[in-house]
Amino acid sequence: MSTISAGGPRNVLVTGASSGIGREVALALAERGDALVLVARRHAELEDLAVRCRLLGASTVVVAPADVADDEAWTDAFAEGLGELGRIDVVVHAAAVAAYGRFDEIPGEVFDRVQEVNVRGTANVARTSLRHFDDRQRGHLVLFGSLVGKIGTPFLSPYVTSKWAVHGLARTLQAERARGPVDVSLVEPGGVSTTIYDKAASYLGVQGKPPPPVYGAERVAAATVRLIDRPRRELPVGVFNPVISAGFRLFPGVYDRIVAPLVTRLALGDEPVADHPGNLFQSQPEPVPAKDRR
Ligand SMILES: NC(=O)c1ccc[n+]([C@@H]2O[C@H](COP(=O)([O-])OP(=O)(O)OC[C@H]3O[C@@H](n4cnc5c(N)ncnc54)[C@H](OP(=O)(O)O)[C@@H]3O)[C@@H](O)[C@H]2O)c1
Repeated sequence: MSTISAGGPRNVLVTGASSGIGREVALALAERGDALVLVARRHAELEDLAVRCRLLGASTVVVAPADVADDEAWTDAFAEGLGELGRIDVVVHAAAVAAYGRFDEIPGEVFDRVQEVNVRGTANVARTSLRHFDDRQRGHLVLFGSLVGKIGTPFLSPYVTSKWAVHGLARTLQAERARGPVDVSLVEPGGVSTTIYDKAASYLGVQGKPPPPVYGAERVAAATVRLIDRPRRELPVGVFNPVISAGFRLFPGVYDRIVAPLVTRLALGDEPVADHPGNLFQSQPEPVPAKDRR
């Protein structure tokens, strides 16, 4: 992998910038004086973030709201950022949604929408970014997979399916560019304290929560910024990730017997909620994370 993006200020487009890890990545890059293009659906949150990024030192900030599942809207957002900045050096694609429930109890359109945002959205972002990078013969695409892109987890089938697809796409893109100057990286966090869990659709009677050990979004963002400086194929973030994925691969029978009770105890809340589609079809105001509720 090349280290072409190490050094001075870069032009970085961040999707999923309105909350969680994407937002923290934008703030960390702003402190370094990078120029930013901020993409997510919520315009007001992006404008607020842009103000903070400028105060922190970002050289230029372009707000370009778009649904990444909508290729035309996404392509327009990319073109707007490119038009303002002249070139894009790095794309960090953190936008995603999740849905909870037993597979057979989740409405089909909810399962499909998670694939639309997480898989089609990733393909849209990757295609536009790589065409630009290939033209310039330099650039770095950072995709977000997950520990669950390597294991099965009950009650999260739409998200797990989508993350396996993202892992497959990322590894294929890396193989296609193995000798070239363009880098493709895959970040694989375990549990991170963000509101993705609160905003997720649920057809399970409860919301999910991050499984322990839970990392802060700033920590994952800091690791992502280091990855931008020194591109590598994969960036696992989570001390138990290797053990859990080895257990899944090597002892599938044992894994399958213990995983549902463990998930129920460690990764699901206990407050009852009625079935709802969360932020899948329409973005929502940022909720108070479960851990901060009184
Ligand atoms: N949190 C974890 O425990 C964890 C673990 C492993 C991997 N990850 C991955 O890390 C990445 C960031 O997740 P996070 O935890 O930071 O989640 P988050 O706080 O919910 O952020 C997700 C972002 O994606 C945006 N988004 C959702 N749907 C979109 C769409 N259709 N088009 C454009 N933007 C959209 C959201 O904003 P709008 O609503 O404004 O569009 C938000 O800015 C995701 O890929 C996630 O799968 C997270």
